[in-house]
Amino acid sequence: MTTPKAATLTIGEQSIELPLIEGTEGEVGIDISQLRAKTGAVTFDPAFGNTGACTSAITFIDGEKGILRYRGIPIDQFQKSPNFIEVAWLLIFGRLPKKDELQRFSEKLTAHAHLHEAMKHHFEGFPVNAPPMAILSAMINAMSCFDEHFGRFEDDEQIEDAAARLISRVRTIAAYSYRRTNGLPFMYPDPSLRYVANFLHMMFSMPYNQYIAEDEVDEALNLFLILHADHEQNCSTSTVRVVGSSQANLFASCAAGVGALWGPLHGGANVAVIDMLEKIRSGGLSAEKCLELAKDKNSGFKLMGFGHRVYKNFDPRAKILKAQSDKVLKKLGVQDPLLEIAQELEEAALKDQYFVDRKLYPNVDFYSGIILRAIGIPVEMFTVMFAIGRLPGWISQWREQHDDTSTRIARPRQIYTGNTLTDYTPMSER
Ligand code: ACO
Repeated sequence: MTTPKAATLTIGEQSIELPLIEGTEGEVGIDISQLRAKTGAVTFDPAFGNTGACTSAITFIDGEKGILRYRGIPIDQFQKSPNFIEVAWLLIFGRLPKKDELQRFSEKLTAHAHLHEAMKHHFEGFPVNAPPMAILSAMINAMSCFDEHFGRFEDDEQIEDAAARLISRVRTIAAYSYRRTNGLPFMYPDPSLRYVANFLHMMFSMPYNQYIAEDEVDEALNLFLILHADHEQNCSTSTVRVVGSSQANLFASCAAGVGALWGPLHGGANVAVIDMLEKIRSGGLSAEKCLELAKDKNSGFKLMGFGHRVYKNFDPRAKILKAQSDKVLKKLGVQDPLLEIAQELEEAALKDQYFVDRKLYPNVDFYSGIILRAIGIPVEMFTVMFAIGRLPGWISQWREQHDDTSTRIARPRQIYTGNTLTDYTPMSER
């Protein structure tokens, strides 16, 4: 069946034609951009569950079928060969890099891994127990002070330079926040190391003892970052776009994305999952009680790491991470009781009518924490790891919006439900 060209909307006596827009995978949107001008009405879609806020050629998701593709390439094809940096370039520039392009980008990442010394001193101003996501957001924003000429880009080379600085330095910032919290000396980035190994070096080396990442750890973290690299118009990415739509610079926009990612309903869920599994392990909560609470709307409790706005089937990233977590733990000789608890909880939830009826499946955060724990990343850094992974997505979405000449400032409407015209009452009469 061919898609019709327009939809007809009738409000009272008035009927109007609304043009349809169709994506390359057959998704259809009703273009309501003239709706208010023609009828005076706006659409009402809290949390934007039915709103396409932009066209985008970066990531495709079919939530019903559990499909995720970066620039058309299925996510499971990234399991073996590419590294995170290659995927980052693909997302930002729209095609796989040639050898010399990847090399140039990698060299830029190496050249810009250091923080400005003045930026390094900022860490001393944070309390030692400051949440690392707060530090990350503040420090990414601070990059605007040191690289202010990246306010607006003239060409792809400038975007590549800014992307390299951001992707490289976010890892230095993350590692330094961990060192600060733990009273450890900052380790400068080592230009001889690749992206993931360099991050692990800054996290775990000591001035007298170089940390050398095992291949399995390097591979597992590389895959983790790739799986988090983009997820189209999720909460943090939409935040980056909203901030970027005011023509705020790339750093300010990404710093705002970190804030959105922090929440437990989004990237913060990877911490909440481990908290939940730990409670079950220590006997503070049974798996049955956990499901019972999750089903009780008055409990305020949700089964963390389950459910997704878009996936109404398995999250393909969770599938890969589940398979990987078994493999990584075996390779590293780690026995984590939380893996078994997670598997049992998943099995029980997938059989439970509540979760079946609502099509609630494990999402990317359900198993990611198990892998991060196995490779020695502390729980308080989990959401920061997600942010490092998501950065190429934020940059690519920011760039796509920046290059789109039809972009307007994001500014939703509302349906006002407050007082009608009310006179001011002087203090003496209140
Ligand atoms: N536990 C229990 N019930 C749930 C859960 C859950 N984890 N997730 C959704 N539901 C229920 C809702 O209460 C709702 O029930 P109802 O129809 O009886 O009212 C139904 O399933 C549909 O869910 P929505 O509320 O429409 O889901 P929404 O799209 O608004 O939220 C979200 C998605 C935030 C991910 C939600 O599933 C959730 O809170 N999950 C737990 C937190 C989590 O894992 N977040 C990470 C998401 S992935 C990411 O950001 C990387």
